[in-house]
Amino acid sequence: MRDFVLVHINGVPHRIAAPRAFETLSRFLRYDQRATGTKIVCEEGDCGACTVLVGRVEDRQSCLSASEGTEPRQAGLPVLHYRPINSCIQFLFQLDCTHVVTVEGLARGGTLTPVQDAMVRCHGAQCGYCTPGFIMAMAGMYECTSHPTVGDVRAALTGNLCRCTGYDSIIKAALEATDQPKIEEIYPSAPIVNAIKQYECDAVRLQGLQASEPPSLPGGQEAGRLGGFFKPNDLASAIRFKSENPKCVIVQGATDFGVWCNKRGFVAEAMMSLDGIEGLGDVRHEDGALLVGGRASLADFESAVRGIVPELVPIMDRFGSPQIKNAGTLAGNIANASPIADTLPFLFVTNASLELTGLSGTRTVAISDFYLGYKKLDLQPDELITRIIIPLPSKDETLRLYKISKRSHLDISSFTAAMLMRRSDGHVDSIRIAYGGVAPVVLRLPKTEQFLTGKALARETFAEAGEIARGEVAPISDVRGTRDFRLQLAQNVLQRFYFDIA
Ligand SMILES: Cc1cc2nc3c(=O)[nH]c(=O)nc-3n(C[C@H](O)[C@H](O)[C@H](O)COP(=O)(O)OP(=O)(O)OC[C@H]3O[C@@H](n4cnc5c(N)ncnc54)[C@H](O)[C@@H]3O)c2cc1C
Ligand code: FES
Ligand code: FES
Repeated sequence: MRDFVLVHINGVPHRIAAPRAFETLSRFLRYDQRATGTKIVCEEGDCGACTVLVGRVEDRQSCLSASEGTEPRQAGLPVLHYRPINSCIQFLFQLDCTHVVTVEGLARGGTLTPVQDAMVRCHGAQCGYCTPGFIMAMAGMYECTSHPTVGDVRAALTGNLCRCTGYDSIIKAALEATDQPKIEEIYPSAPIVNAIKQYECDAVRLQGLQASEPPSLPGGQEAGRLGGFFKPNDLASAIRFKSENPKCVIVQGATDFGVWCNKRGFVAEAMMSLDGIEGLGDVRHEDGALLVGGRASLADFESAVRGIVPELVPIMDRFGSPQIKNAGTLAGNIANASPIADTLPFLFVTNASLELTGLSGTRTVAISDFYLGYKKLDLQPDELITRIIIPLPSKDETLRLYKISKRSHLDISSFTAAMLMRRSDGHVDSIRIAYGGVAPVVLRLPKTEQFLTGKALARETFAEAGEIARGEVAPISDVRGTRDFRLQLAQNVLQRFYFDIA
């Protein structure tokens, strides 16, 4: 059992123990390493100024670019697979056995790397505060494609905001840097992978901190006792730790957890990562179902659905940003239990189920039974979500998904909806409807579903169904929309569905 995490930064190994290991990566880079190219602005994953690349040893042989599909990697060799993430909501203890590349690590011997050079030539920066984040997001994009389209660039830069330059010159710079080397060419994998291989099978245990020994940690963590961290290397140890620490947070991508810590001063009683457990990171297509491991990232989930559930692609395109999807997980989206989580309406209408593993074994729960109330789950203190089982819509079913948010991209939804319908001879044979943002949990709409079953596919029918749907929901007003707005959406979206399929 180790009492430190091993993190390579720009090729240099660091053994980091508690309390340092409880810091965010961005603060460690700036205040410990003096690598001040990484900027901290929003500290909640929204602006991208803190973007760095994180390389993990992965078995995967390919990575996804929206326009090109997959670009094969060399088979057989374990390589580091680099992805951009937001370092402000990523803690050092999450980064065991990784290689972090910052903006300082791209230029070699004083020569700018092509993405940096292109930003200079294309006048891509004014105040420059956002620039390192853009550079790192571009370098991340070139890990997956050598000839990006404008669409690839826009998608890759969704998570980066600039308030003074405007995006045209930045996009131009991103398109011009086609000679950008892969990180593998700057930092050959072999020595880093060899160093990681010596440690990656170890479990890691970091002692927590007492209130009487406050470190200078962000978000007011000094206000209380910060629990310890455990990275087990097998599922049995993970379940044991969870049963002994029922309030333990499973820190996966930390895209929710990091925001609670930085913005709400949340102090965890115990923390655990599932990264060391083999088999939980898989996404598999088997017997008409998608099986998603309990620590599979949203990015891997998105890659998997691209070919098989095209209706989900626009929703995943608008889910957070590449940085958020590279870190965040599907299990985290489910367990965080937000009524406006973007994946949930889809999971409800496909009748997805969750495999929950605890001390007494494994049980399966339908996703519609998992939510007992606002943020209340049918999850025992010793249980973890180990797999998500998603029956895929068949060819004779029509699936439609809707996300309404104030801003098109990188915004949390005000309202979400999913419909999965089977029809024949101009009639509805069966339909499942789920709405998010209209109650404390995502809802199925049984009365509306019953009304539509057997009815003719006609505009008037769906208009009437909209009125029934309006009566089945009880939204509240909040920053993302008023009650009336959401009631109107609950009614109108069924007519929208009719127009989309008619
Ligand atoms: C800038 C930004 C944009 C975002 N955009 C969107 C968006 O567009 N749509 C959307 O729906 N969400 C969005 N989110 C929210 C967040 O990214 C998702 O909810 C994400 O899926 C959380 O996954 P995670 O792995 O990061 O969870 P974490 O933060 O690591 O954990 C969240 C919770 O899940 C629990 N948990 C995690 N895994 C398990 C498991 N296997 N078993 C039991 N419990 C578990 C943890 O204990 C914790 O309570 C956004 C967040 C940010 C910061
Ligand atoms: S500082 Fe804004 S995303 Fe990290
Ligand atoms: S150059 Fe000033 S914020 Fe982008």
